[in-house]
Amino acid sequence: MSDEARWHATDNYFAERLLAPDAVLDAALRESAAAGLPAIAVSPVLGAFLNLLLRIRGARRVLEIGTLGGYSTIWMARALPEGGRLVTLEADPKHAAVARANIERAGLAHVVDLRVGRAAETLPLLAGEAPEPFDVVFIDADKPSNPIYFEWALKLTRAGSVIVLDNVARNGEVANAASTDPSVIGTRAFMDMVHRHPRLDATALQMVGVKGYDGFLLALVKG
Ligand code: SAH
Ligand code: DHB
Ligand code: MG
Repeated sequence: MSDEARWHATDNYFAERLLAPDAVLDAALRESAAAGLPAIAVSPVLGAFLNLLLRIRGARRVLEIGTLGGYSTIWMARALPEGGRLVTLEADPKHAAVARANIERAGLAHVVDLRVGRAAETLPLLAGEAPEPFDVVFIDADKPSNPIYFEWALKLTRAGSVIVLDNVARNGEVANAASTDPSVIGTRAFMDMVHRHPRLDATALQMVGVKGYDGFLLALVKG
């Protein structure tokens, strides 16, 4: 068996043993695929991780940058208590329409506030509403803009908030200082900003699984 095949088999084994069968999440992926959206949603085990993280944190307010078909949105919105709110930002109106239907089917339309537009434009509008700080920010959109999202994530959070950045490993390409890939450059710049920031403690974890070899960064905002 190839390494890749073993990663898939083990990821599927974890999902089968630990995650409940879920027609709503399955439908979200099926409808996303049927509409031609790319198959780049978080894996089931990472979706479950985000759900647990939000509950461990006691998150009431969550910001997501990059909705796609709403798969990670549903995992996270389900973690919120009564009265909780998740704002999710999506540039592509077609993706947003698919997500809206998936979120509606999940019975989460009253929890999720989906805003269509480039996040670099919708984030200042959101900040202009002087929202209550977010407890968790999940950044998973266009990677070259990660430095922009870093700044907004910090503006929109407070001590005790958690920032998660997806896709930080990218087959190990992130460790290549000579990379000319704008996504790698954007993610490396985000890493540097975390490193320099006095109010952030952070780590990053590599993962293998159904999405190949990638990882995420987790940062805690300090007082
Ligand atoms: N979080 C989703 C996957 C997001 S994929 C999940 O795990 O289910 C990345 C998404 O970011 C895509 O839908 C893409 O259209 C969107 N995106 C790309 N550039 C963007 C931008 N500038 N502003 C907001 N969203 C953007
Ligand atoms: C891509 C984007 C993602 O957010 C992801 O998790 C995997 C792949 C991509 O653009 O290729
Ligand atoms: Mg991602």
